Amino acid sequence: MAYVHAPGQQSAQGTSLLRNHWTMNPRIDSWTGRRVWVIGASTGIGAETARMLLAFGARVALSARQTDALEEVAAGHRDARVLPLDVTRHDQVLAVRDLLLADWGGIDLVLIVAGAYSDMRADNFDMAVVNRLIDVNLRGVFHCVDAALPVLLRTPGSGIGIVSSVAGFFGLPRTLAYGPTKAALINLAESLYFDLHPRGNAIYLINPGFVATPATASNDFDMPGLISAPEAAAHIVRGIERGAFQIHFPRNFTNWMRFGRVLPYRWYFWLTHKVTGL
Ligand SMILES: NC(=O)c1ccc[n+]([C@@H]2O[C@H](COP(=O)([O-])OP(=O)(O)OC[C@H]3O[C@@H](n4cnc5c(N)ncnc54)[C@H](OP(=O)(O)O)[C@@H]3O)[C@@H](O)[C@H]2O)c1
Repeated sequence: MAYVHAPGQQSAQGTSLLRNHWTMNPRIDSWTGRRVWVIGASTGIGAETARMLLAFGARVALSARQTDALEEVAAGHRDARVLPLDVTRHDQVLAVRDLLLADWGGIDLVLIVAGAYSDMRADNFDMAVVNRLIDVNLRGVFHCVDAALPVLLRTPGSGIGIVSSVAGFFGLPRTLAYGPTKAALINLAESLYFDLHPRGNAIYLINPGFVATPATASNDFDMPGLISAPEAAAHIVRGIERGAFQIHFPRNFTNWMRFGRVLPYRWYFWLTHKVTGL
């Protein structure tokens, strides 16, 4: 797929102080030459985001476990680097970070997209699945944050994005294991804002609604507001360019989910049951 910036979509050079004052993160006017590490870049949202950034001129390091899939994303781009890793292995994440530093001399943006999904209710509670989701979605993300922070803190204007989910906003049916891991990531990104923003570092909390990817392919229900992975990538890239903190999409679905956050529990449980039938 060919990605093009529509006129006016990318802001003019020479960012004014006033414009930056109103954004929660510094704006990005050009991706050319930016050093971006996408972790979870082999399929779905991460792969499409990496493709888009490469098309916009960024230098992109692609990480995940499936080397063949990473190489497919990188194919034809001389600014792409394939660096496989498993986020559950702290040593592998640190080793890839060090390889990148040796090669690039720094990193401007780390996007942590890697994640695993499995639905679960009380009658099929399974500790093996709980442990796997905690290992990938939570411990794995902490491994990446640990690798990224020292680099970001010494690179003014650099940033980190964490992909959580609207499933982290509140408890939902079928998300007994997945939901708590994503709720923790929302809290993590919010907490990081207090430390990174004053130093001029960006932190992005990325909360997708439903996106058609391998992770959702086996869902046996109608997914409201379902969008494609390239559409999700475009929301993420545009959100980062305009300096948003929370990047949530598609808004016709995620705004309803955000409304649910402020409802009293009695109404929230009643409404969610009515809407989902669960
Ligand atoms: N699709 C949705 O509707 C939706 C909604 C909200 C949030 N999200 C979140 O969006 C993110 C991307 O999901 P997706 O929908 O694009 O699903 P996906 O296509 O299954 O992508 C998951 C990515 O995570 C990587 N990954 C999984 N386990 C890993 C591990 N142990 N080490 C390194 N990389 C690992 C996968 O690569 P390998 O298998 O090659 O390792 C793959 O690149 C996830 O965090 C997910 O929770 C998705």
